[in-house]
Amino acid sequence: MSEQNKSHVDSGVDLLADRFVDPGLPEHKERMSDKDPKAAKRAELQVSILFLISIIGTIASIVVFFAIRPEGTTESVRNANLALGLSIGFALLGIGTAAVHWAKALMSDHEVVDERHPLESTPEDREAAVAELTQGVKDANIERRTVLKGTMITALALFPLTIAVPLVSSVGGDWDVSKFRHTIWKRGTRLTTDPNGRPLKASDVTLGSVVHIIPEATEEERSSHHWITEKAKAVVLLVRLDPKDLKETEERKSWSYDGIVAYSKICTHVGCPVALYEQQTHHLLCPCHQSTFDVADGAKVVFGPAKRALPQLPITVDDEGYLIAQDDFNEPIGPSYWERLK
Ligand code: FES
Repeated sequence: MSEQNKSHVDSGVDLLADRFVDPGLPEHKERMSDKDPKAAKRAELQVSILFLISIIGTIASIVVFFAIRPEGTTESVRNANLALGLSIGFALLGIGTAAVHWAKALMSDHEVVDERHPLESTPEDREAAVAELTQGVKDANIERRTVLKGTMITALALFPLTIAVPLVSSVGGDWDVSKFRHTIWKRGTRLTTDPNGRPLKASDVTLGSVVHIIPEATEEERSSHHWITEKAKAVVLLVRLDPKDLKETEERKSWSYDGIVAYSKICTHVGCPVALYEQQTHHLLCPCHQSTFDVADGAKVVFGPAKRALPQLPITVDDEGYLIAQDDFNEPIGPSYWERLK
């Protein structure tokens, strides 16, 4: 910077300093808990109650995990997830709000000015930090506050159970991945719209559109407790492209119908629903980790962590013009656990 420019900057800084006076720190106000031992005791009790809420939440989550098992219907899965989510939520909320309330009402309330300094602290600063930490622990009076100490330790010790219990109980569970090899799609099953199950004609699918598809099912099949799992495995994205944009191998030429192609909606990375379609590039994007699949080219991976193309559902139309499956997907859907078992 030239001398002339530097002096302009300096005078600008001086001008700002004249206009904006540093207001300094607001006057320190003592909290009730600093002035009144009864208020401090009350705050201590409130913090303990919050930790207690966390303890109850953790225990409730374990009870819920074993007591409310989803039976395969959407409603039972929703109820089980709701109960589990609420109890774990209370367990976390209890610890979080207790920590905040403790810090605000009971921890040391001295104002500290934190000057900007180089990122690496000097040995003196580190010593000072340790001393402040030690003082903070002393100020917290944890040794004298035995109820608070007890509830805090119990809440923190119990909370990991909300994760550990489901993990441990899944050891020896149903890890049979062969169920991903097949879905309920079979020759002649009509493609229907998700969620209302309306059969779809090829003429209903406009160029560039993308339709979420599930297999046609009877009322009886829909009310069976396997339906939700089977439907989740069989979900499909149907896209209509200009047939001349499709790069199909000889084998796959008969798997599409007049530019309409059908691919599994389950990402081959870790199974999120692939749902974002870019009409211009023919790319399908998975929102979880941005794997991108080229619908015009066999849904091959063009970007992201997925390692294989989306499985394709071979389709055609029946005598009435409705879209039907020719068979199941060309390979197992979802993440490639099955490849590791080979
Ligand atoms: S689950 Fe789709 S990219 Fe990870």
